[in-house]
Amino acid sequence: MSEHNVGTEKRGFSRRLFLKGVGSGVVSASAVTTVLPALEQSAAAASSGSEVLGPGPVPVRLQINGVEHSLKVEPRETLLEVMRNRLDLTGPKLVCDMGSCGACTVHVDGKPAYSCMLLAIQVQGKKITTVEGLAQGDQLHPVQQAFVDTDAMQCGFCTPGFVMSMAAVFAHNPKASLEEVKQGIAGNICRCGTYSQIFEAAELLRKRNGG
Ligand code: FES
Ligand code: FES
Repeated sequence: MSEHNVGTEKRGFSRRLFLKGVGSGVVSASAVTTVLPALEQSAAAASSGSEVLGPGPVPVRLQINGVEHSLKVEPRETLLEVMRNRLDLTGPKLVCDMGSCGACTVHVDGKPAYSCMLLAIQVQGKKITTVEGLAQGDQLHPVQQAFVDTDAMQCGFCTPGFVMSMAAVFAHNPKASLEEVKQGIAGNICRCGTYSQIFEAAELLRKRNGG
């Protein structure tokens, strides 16, 4: 390690941590402006004696589908990685891993969120729901039932994400119009092109809810 690196490690960050903070790939100007203040805060925290997390595993507590999980994760690990690789919750799918397809959608405190874009350490104390947590025993959630009744899937890889996004729309408004549903699921992509059946499921659900 060079003298320069020793110096930066002591101040609480390194080039390696910088790259981890930005993520792999292109380092854009906006990413730099976002990350640099975070690094400065990290350096300030280190010099003030505050705790700096990582890069090794740290203890976290996650509340998912009503179950509290205590485990150790590296601060760089996403919620999606931890759920799929450690907790065997494979409903949320890993597809783009960059917040553009919606296959990994979960609810965080009732709101839809891309779990590939959240760090596990970030969501401690929040109530997380995955598609596995929607059904009540053998009784499917009404959105799941509507997808089954309208055959709104082909390969099914996008389906958990669509179901979670649509469930959030109907939780907010049980008689949501098709336009509202389309807005709510705008962040989800189906590569098989099952959109017409997905919209049919939304219409069926609205009618079943008296809309
Ligand atoms: S895998 Fe998260 S948005 Fe695509
Ligand atoms: S059903 Fe295959 S990606 Fe949507």
